[in-house]
Amino acid sequence: MIESFRRFKILIAAYILSVSYVSVWAQHVRMWVPSETGDYYYQLKENNVRLQASDLYSAERPSLNDAIVQFNGGCTGEIISPRGLVLTNHHCGYGAIAAHSTLEHNYVEDGFWAQSQAEELPNPGMYVTFVRKIIDVTGEVLQGVTPDMDARQRQSVTDRNINRLKKTLPHEAWQDISIKPFFYGNKYYAFVEENYRDIRLVGAPPSSIGKFGADTDNWMWPRHSGDFSLFRIYADKNNRPAEYSPDNVPYRPDRYLKVSTEGVHEGDMIIVYGFPGRTQEYLPSFRVAQITGKINPVRIGIRRHALDVLDKFMRRNDTLKLKYTSTYARIANYWKKWKGENMGIRRSGAIAEKKHWEEEVLRREAETGGHEVADILQELKAAYDSLEAPELARNVFIEAGYVDNPWMQYALDMYRFERQVQRRPEKFDELKSDFYEQMKNKWAKSDARVNRALFLAMWQDLNRYMPEKYKPSSWEIPANKSSHDKVSDNWQHAVFTDSLRLKKALEGGAENFLNVLKNDSAYKMARGLIDSFYNDISPDYARWQNKTVELMRSYQSHMMKLFPGFRWAPDANGTLRVTFGEVRGYEPRDGVYYEPFSTLDGVIEKYIPGDYEFDLPEKLLDIYKHKDFGKYAVNGTVPVNFLGTAHTTGGNSGSPALNAKGELVGLNFDRVWEGTMSDLYYDPSICRNIMVDIRYVLFIMDKLGDASRLVHEILQN
Ligand code: ARG
Ligand code: ASP
Repeated sequence: MIESFRRFKILIAAYILSVSYVSVWAQHVRMWVPSETGDYYYQLKENNVRLQASDLYSAERPSLNDAIVQFNGGCTGEIISPRGLVLTNHHCGYGAIAAHSTLEHNYVEDGFWAQSQAEELPNPGMYVTFVRKIIDVTGEVLQGVTPDMDARQRQSVTDRNINRLKKTLPHEAWQDISIKPFFYGNKYYAFVEENYRDIRLVGAPPSSIGKFGADTDNWMWPRHSGDFSLFRIYADKNNRPAEYSPDNVPYRPDRYLKVSTEGVHEGDMIIVYGFPGRTQEYLPSFRVAQITGKINPVRIGIRRHALDVLDKFMRRNDTLKLKYTSTYARIANYWKKWKGENMGIRRSGAIAEKKHWEEEVLRREAETGGHEVADILQELKAAYDSLEAPELARNVFIEAGYVDNPWMQYALDMYRFERQVQRRPEKFDELKSDFYEQMKNKWAKSDARVNRALFLAMWQDLNRYMPEKYKPSSWEIPANKSSHDKVSDNWQHAVFTDSLRLKKALEGGAENFLNVLKNDSAYKMARGLIDSFYNDISPDYARWQNKTVELMRSYQSHMMKLFPGFRWAPDANGTLRVTFGEVRGYEPRDGVYYEPFSTLDGVIEKYIPGDYEFDLPEKLLDIYKHKDFGKYAVNGTVPVNFLGTAHTTGGNSGSPALNAKGELVGLNFDRVWEGTMSDLYYDPSICRNIMVDIRYVLFIMDKLGDASRLVHEILQN
């Protein structure tokens, strides 16, 4: 009896596998466009949600989308009070927190809590974006596109349609329209947006809480970080977007999130609502192999080299450590992510899985009498092969010639300034003082010894990794030591690295200045690289990149036609998405299981007095000693972070985690290392998003911070 039942089960499993291999992976891609209510309805029912699809998004009435903003272009934030209070991550607000810090008021170090509206601090240039309406405009954008058009013709037709739509789609004077391609241009959506530009800093914990664990814990579980900060949106007296003005008033939202302090349990549903930046789930196996085998190792290698250089200086010298901490963190973030990505792709067998999927697509196509996909895949493979050299070159330039090379960053600043001066020499006197100030500020934050060491390391890497075809001859490394030293001396005293030299060069007129540039040997060398980037690398890259997009469009379109019953979720592209998951732990390695919750006990366990990553405020240790947890206590401690299976990526930082009633229970801020490959291949067994428990946010504000005003504002709702 048991035996035959088991056989029956195996048969069923084999049947399911053979008819819909697709469910094995593609179904886990779940970043939904909020207006696709039909899709949601299915999702919501399946997950027993007590919300209606129209609670998440409705074009007719205020809905949860009205409580979510894209924060300053790159993160997510959510409105948590009737007076426009916005919650986001500490690492998303960090620039603003640091910009307001001085030696007397060190908000990075000590935290900041505005005690009144008057104390809330404006941030020039900062903005948040609401999405009010989402409209499928595929038909309109593709109007006039015919199958025989080449990529360029198609582009010019769609561009024209998009420009027209931006004017004709109904919207208010204070709204903007943005239109983006989905599924590589098989679909287009228009977004009616509102950009608020008076955003003030309201609160932040000390960075020992907000960045607790820093680089060591970044992308890792178990995690113990209070990665949050608070801002407020200000509007004009009609509640509309306005530039900063002391007369502006707190924004009154159509919808804000109710905070739930009830917490979450393993298995509970969570909804993460935000602005994921970029995923590429539908790439074929050979492209994933290329990214992990060819592209990532180069980026990882260059960043590791730069980190090693920085590390040596930072260990020896505290001033340098302070100066380079945030540079180090920035470089380390994606270094670690790419390493995790490669590991996860290997571990999950993603490449083999994707091969199976391709075979499945081909088989399905054969069944329906089609025969195009094989050719498309072959052409795609050829296009990616052609893309490889320019793509590598582009990455080497971006890394060794920019991200990890401060002197080249200054050279690029100079390059842009040179172009401005060439275009409008009569404005020279006006432009030059701003430029000088800007450069002086940058130099003040850096150190010539470190920059020189980075330059030398990156010079080596440029030679080591740059494909032969794109190597500018001026960057060859001279064999003899004294000419080698001479080159770095020239860079150290170049017109873009040496303040005296720049000052002098700016003293004469525009013509004199352009002449000085022309004769600066370091600048000449930098120009060689910049020119090869713009003139050789970029055009080749764009050509093949466009070709791959074109082919991916038709591959994606075939996939979607061949599996019409499947609910296809588009890759992330920086637009508003909602994703569903549940609270769940995972097995990082054989024999190890990670619980999905961390607590204050773990924060204290990690405490290292005086350490730059694991130090803690005295006051927190006191609170812990006296167990002064108030209403935030759960089983004698305080909940800190938790894990979920929501499909998130960069840009989802600061996204709200909602429970099944749509109430705020957590704040998304990261993913686990084993699962960072989710941008290429989402594997539900090891991909997890990491959230701050909202009760930890409130606990820190209430007990550690000086923020009862704000806790009231949030909880009275
Ligand atoms: N890994 C998180 C996200 O990409 C947090 C980054 C901020 N933390 C850091 N150490 N850089 O992007
Ligand atoms: N930390 C990321 C962010 O800043 C989120 C992620 O990549 O999971 O958006």
